[in-house]
Amino acid sequence: MAWRGASWMAESVAPSLRAWWMRGRRVTLVPLAVTTSTKVDAALVREARAVAARWGVPFLPRRAKESVAPWLGTKAAALLVVGGDGVTLWDAEGSFGFHAGMAHLRRMRLRAGEPDAFVRVAELRAGDSVLDCTLGLAQDAMVASLAVGPSGRVVGLERSLALGAVAGEGLRRYALGEDSGLIEVVHADAREYLKTLPSRAFDVVFFDPMFAKPRKSQPAFDMLRRFAEHAPLTQETLEEARRVARRWVVVKGAKYTDDLRKLGLEDEPGSRFTDVIWGRVGPSVEP
Ligand SMILES: C[S@@+](CC[C@H](N)C(=O)[O-])C[C@H]1O[C@@H](n2cnc3c(N)ncnc32)[C@H](O)[C@@H]1O
Repeated sequence: MAWRGASWMAESVAPSLRAWWMRGRRVTLVPLAVTTSTKVDAALVREARAVAARWGVPFLPRRAKESVAPWLGTKAAALLVVGGDGVTLWDAEGSFGFHAGMAHLRRMRLRAGEPDAFVRVAELRAGDSVLDCTLGLAQDAMVASLAVGPSGRVVGLERSLALGAVAGEGLRRYALGEDSGLIEVVHADAREYLKTLPSRAFDVVFFDPMFAKPRKSQPAFDMLRRFAEHAPLTQETLEEARRVARRWVVVKGAKYTDDLRKLGLEDEPGSRFTDVIWGRVGPSVEP
C-alpha cells in the first residue's frame, strides 16, 4: 500500500478544516479521522491506529457504545470507522463500506472465459501493468487485477483521501486470490501524478471520470459523489496519459454525454444494453 504525494489537507472536504469556538473552547474540525466501532478492544484500537497511520490522519479514541454522530461536523467532517467487518466511511449524511459488488460478478465471468468490455478494449493480458487514474470504488481495478494476473500490477490513483482509504483498506481485507495481480492504492491527483512518470511507464492508462449528469443511484454512489473529484478529463491530461502508456489510454464514458467525443475519442463497439461507452487512444511515444 502506498501513500504518497499531497497531504490530507488536499482532500475535497478540506474547506471544512477550521478552528471555531464552542461553549468557550477552541474546536478544530479535521477533514478525516479514524476511530473504532462500538465494540472496542485493544486489538481493534491497534488496528484503527494502524489505519490512521497508513493514511496520515488523526485517530480519535472512542468509548464503548459511544455514538460518533455528534463528532461529525464538530470534530471531523468524515470518519473512517474500523470494526470487525472492515472500514466504513461516515459523514453527516450516511455511510459506505467497501464492497466487491459488480466486480465480484465480473471477475467470476472472466474466470469462466466470458468477455469483459474493459479487458477487451484495453486488450489486457497476463503480466500487464495498469494505471487506473480514477480508482473510486476499485471495481475496474479489481477486474484489471485478475486480467493481468499475478505477474501483472495495477496502480490505482484516487484524489479523495477518504475514498482512497476506504478502497485501500477494503482491498487489504479482500482476498483477490492467487490468480490476481497486486493493486497498489495511491492517494494522488492523476493530473499531477502522470507528470512525475517516465514515458511508456504502464501498458495501459485508464480513466473513468465522474459522469457529468448523475443518474439515479444507490446510496453508495451518493456517498461517492459527495467525496469524489468531479473535474472532467481534459485534453492536456489525456495527452500526458498517452505519453505514459505503452499500448492504450482507455476512457470510460456515458452514452448520454458527449464527453468522449469532446476528447476526440470514438466509441468502441460495446453492448447495446448498458449506458457505458468506451474510448481508447494509442501511445504518443514510440518505443
Ligand atoms: C466514476 S469513479 C471511478 C469508479 C471506478 N472506475 C470503479 O470501478 O469503482 C471516479 C473516481 O475517480 C476519482 N478521480 C477523479 N478525478 C481524479 C483525479 N484527477 N485524480 C485521481 N482521482 C480522480 C474520483 O474522486 C472518483 O472516486
